[in-house]
Amino acid sequence: MKKHRIGVLHGVNLDQLGKRDPAVYGTFTLSQLETTIKGFAAEVGFDLTFWQTNHEGEFCEQLHLARERVDGLVLNPGAWTHYSYAIRDALEVSGLPAVEVHISEVDSRDDWRRLSVIRDICVGRVQGKGADGYREALEILRHALDDE
Ligand code: DQA
Repeated sequence: MKKHRIGVLHGVNLDQLGKRDPAVYGTFTLSQLETTIKGFAAEVGFDLTFWQTNHEGEFCEQLHLARERVDGLVLNPGAWTHYSYAIRDALEVSGLPAVEVHISEVDSRDDWRRLSVIRDICVGRVQGKGADGYREALEILRHALDDE
């Protein structure tokens, strides 16, 4: 069976995990989170590539390139989720199945966090499950890719 390549994209301020409010985001750093996600990927049988940037245009460019590099995406754009139509458009360009993930439960925080401008073009959405949410996201992607 083909081993799927998955891009895991972390957006703005996700490199600050470990320094952000531990009650909301836990105490793990981005590098610890990526190690955890690699473990989940091994269970599911995916090859992972990680990207993180604090620059919106760069995030868009990573999405443009993703089309040639990976078969699916796990995406946590951070605050961009709530307003970046540029990222939404770039995700559409990628043409890839994508799952939106949030470490915190965005729907029960500030009102402005309830809106996701990418939600309707993703095959799934996971929120409020901390690092474990990434396992769920990979499982959703596996089902989506198996159905292709
Ligand atoms: C986040 C939630 C966003 O609202 C916030 O701006 C982030 C992280 C999360 O993973 O919970 O930076 O995407």
